[in-house]
Amino acid sequence: MHRETLFQCPNCTKALIKGEKQYFCPSGHSFDIARKGYVNLLLPSHTGSAKPGDTKEMLFSRREFLDKGYYEAFSNKLNDIVLSVLPTGKERGEGVSILDAGCGEGYYISRLKDRLKDYQNDELNLYGIDVAKQAIHYAAGRDKDTFFAVASNYHVPIMDGVMDCILCIFAPRDEQQFRRILKPAGRLVVAAPGPWHLYSLKKVLYENPDVIGQRGNVYEGFKLLEQCNVHYNILLKSKEDILNLFMMTPYSRHAEKDILESLSEYKTEVDFNIFVYQKT
Ligand SMILES: C[S@@+](CC[C@H](N)C(=O)[O-])C[C@H]1O[C@@H](n2cnc3c(N)ncnc32)[C@H](O)[C@@H]1O
Ligand SMILES: [Zn+2]
Repeated sequence: MHRETLFQCPNCTKALIKGEKQYFCPSGHSFDIARKGYVNLLLPSHTGSAKPGDTKEMLFSRREFLDKGYYEAFSNKLNDIVLSVLPTGKERGEGVSILDAGCGEGYYISRLKDRLKDYQNDELNLYGIDVAKQAIHYAAGRDKDTFFAVASNYHVPIMDGVMDCILCIFAPRDEQQFRRILKPAGRLVVAAPGPWHLYSLKKVLYENPDVIGQRGNVYEGFKLLEQCNVHYNILLKSKEDILNLFMMTPYSRHAEKDILESLSEYKTEVDFNIFVYQKT
């Protein structure tokens, strides 16, 4: 069975049709569907490295950690926000489309799907992209109905003006790309770590940790509609959880984990900023 999708051919920008084994466009470009159901739409020219994005180890640790529920309250708040910005009534009739840009191993988009379970399958078009193939491999394993593709946020393979909502959670952003694919009334929801995110953990790892959070500011072509902060403490209940948290963060790239080996329980704060933008 052939199905129209919102994916765009990365070579010629025409709409991609999903067939049994391949996605294809009218110009004759085709892309194999992996056994897990996702497609690789990343062209060699889209990245500077052979294995872009997070490493397999980081993704594995993030999946293990998130599945323990430590960020569930944050994910719930994100879902509340997405729900509040989606079209309702007649506008919803033509279907609702959401992209998780830089979706990682798929935790947030799969929880969002569960939350949107009163939508019929044909009313809901969920998409997830990440530049790391392993991320999409894991994400596709979580859910068969979401359209997942290996792709970069700097070359988003989605048709123009089709998305109701883009989620970008701790991932790189490209304002021009996001603007291009959003519907006129679409919303961009950005989540970024606040200043106190994992501060206690940073204090164990670094002598003088900074308190500068990642900014979720999006400037060009968007206006900020609302912003909120979610913060709470988490008690990491095992050494495994502590090490997974360490491994999934950028700290694992430049701090030593040995210092954490002796810990079996650890309490730290989490601090997330969420911003909702509309196209100007
Ligand atoms: C900190 S992780 C966040 C993942 C997920 N949103 C989450 O919060 O669990 C950043 C993600 O962005 C991905 N990434 C890095 N550069 C990217 C790019 N240019 N386009 C799309 N994804 C990218 C990484 O592979 C990684 O999965
Ligand atoms: Zn094409």
